[in-house]
Amino acid sequence: MNQTRRGFMGKAFGAVAGVGAVGALYAMKRSWDPLPSVKAAGFTTIDISACAENKLIVEKWRGKPIFVLRKTAEMVAKQDEAETARDVIVDGNHYLIAIGLCTHLGCIPAYREAKTDFKCACHGGEFDSSGINTKAPPPSPLVIPPFKINGTTLVLGESGPEYTKMKEAGIVA
Ligand code: FES
Repeated sequence: MNQTRRGFMGKAFGAVAGVGAVGALYAMKRSWDPLPSVKAAGFTTIDISACAENKLIVEKWRGKPIFVLRKTAEMVAKQDEAETARDVIVDGNHYLIAIGLCTHLGCIPAYREAKTDFKCACHGGEFDSSGINTKAPPPSPLVIPPFKINGTTLVLGESGPEYTKMKEAGIVA
């Protein structure tokens, strides 16, 4: 291949790779921003009534992924007290709200709808649908971020009475 052709191929590849990267970023943005949400001054506001059951929503708050999972009645019925104590209950619906970073080394665990649990691909750690660590190496549950409930709106970054109650119960630090 002569120099000119190699240069052309390099540019052509670069252009294709660039389009791919933009597409990937767009897809990431779409999957990270699926609900009506407003971000301002360190707060993220999400209307959680739009969440479908057993479908993980990943929002972003202060650069961190935030998991929002609306549980099915069947999931709630199977829970023990410790799991239910971590639920955020809005309009009778139970939600997991948690920072989506594995408490081992910070990877983002994947939600497995069929098993209703989270699996961290990095070292095989697992969490239940309440974010409680069920398989090592994660040493502790997923962290619940400060939140407040306004009607069916979740405000991340503000501490409401539900969050304060969890704090008093030692569920959040
Ligand atoms: S970072 Fe998740 S198991 Fe290690």
